[in-house]
Amino acid sequence: MQKVLSERIINLEESQTLEMAAKARALAAKGVDVIKLSLGEPDFFTPAHIKEAAKKAIDDNFTFYTPVAAYPELREAIAQKLSRDNGLTWKAENIVVSTGAKQSLINVVLSIVNPNDEVIVLAPYWVSYIPMIQLAEGKAVIVNGDIKNGFKVTPEQLKAAITPKTKAIMYSSPSNPTGTVYTKSELKAFADIIAEHKDIFIIADEIYEYICFEDEYFSIGAFENVRNQTITVNGFSKGYAMTGWRVGYIGANKEIADACIKMQGQFTSATCSIAQKAAYAAITGDMSVTKEMKTAYLRRRDLVLSLLKDIEGIKTYIPQGAFYIFPDVSAFFGKTDGKYTIKTSNDLCMYLLNEAHVALVDGEGFGAPECVRISFAASDEELKEAMRRMKEKLALLK
Ligand SMILES: Cc1ncc(COP(=O)(O)O)c(C=O)c1O
Repeated sequence: MQKVLSERIINLEESQTLEMAAKARALAAKGVDVIKLSLGEPDFFTPAHIKEAAKKAIDDNFTFYTPVAAYPELREAIAQKLSRDNGLTWKAENIVVSTGAKQSLINVVLSIVNPNDEVIVLAPYWVSYIPMIQLAEGKAVIVNGDIKNGFKVTPEQLKAAITPKTKAIMYSSPSNPTGTVYTKSELKAFADIIAEHKDIFIIADEIYEYICFEDEYFSIGAFENVRNQTITVNGFSKGYAMTGWRVGYIGANKEIADACIKMQGQFTSATCSIAQKAAYAAITGDMSVTKEMKTAYLRRRDLVLSLLKDIEGIKTYIPQGAFYIFPDVSAFFGKTDGKYTIKTSNDLCMYLLNEAHVALVDGEGFGAPECVRISFAASDEELKEAMRRMKEKLALLK
């Protein structure tokens, strides 16, 4: 008998962050007070002027299909933003708006990767990169950053990973899960390597751009020698607290942009027309809420760092962006409280969920099985209480 499901879906991994969130929700539904530090989502509301624009879009009957890549004014506004903030000189025709940056990324991967092409992924990486490459039947080549170096991959490592089959390099900066931010000079070194190979693309995921604690944020596509090879991915979810609205975009050369439009035209068409109007208000409007959120994340980062330093066995570093910290917890492997034995970071997360009622995500799906991801997109009180519970329960592991 034939199997019901395709090999494609059978082999596809479940999103680990969503899986952990589901477990935490199930426990909370039983009445347990779970502190969820597992999801990658701002804990702020979407700013009022953005919500107003969406309400107006409904009242104005802006409720029909828009062009697949978005309505023209939004594409133009994104092109202007990329030019103003990022030094990327794309026109509206180079912009494709999608149902979240997640769709932007899969559009790109499916548009450029052939079976057995290699995609270099800087690790630790965002959980969805590897399944996306698998869906395109490509091969992910993982290059590991070391916690000692703030999880940064060196230019030498990148160079060594390139083969005649390399199609693209893919990374996020600021990174999910580590918060690592590549500086201008580090990106320049990457650009100079990639520029030697005109058939290799750079998929630069910049979704955490506005949550960067460094003085300067830099986009690799601004270097002239890789301009045409760089596909910049960004979106509204993180910087404007708009996760549920589902708006992301790319800026890329016209061949790539047109390919993504063709791909999306067969899957979803344009993203929601109302969400597009909201996104327009976000990108052309007042940025003070975005700045306030960044200030709050920085304060929380420092709070979590100081509390984590106080927990024996947890190895930290300083994240320079996003709202995650990804400490090494391998010191707990092999330990037990008598009931739970910790062999992996997943065991540790299950122990902390069940005993401390704190939900984290294990590092396996991010390519770093010795780490756990802690999201600090939560209130100061929740963070303090979560760290207190963790300290207490981790001390019981001998
Ligand atoms: C690194 C990274 N890229 C892309 C996304 C997808 O964002 P969106 O909500 O726009 O689909 C996320 C969301 O968690 C992310 O962390």
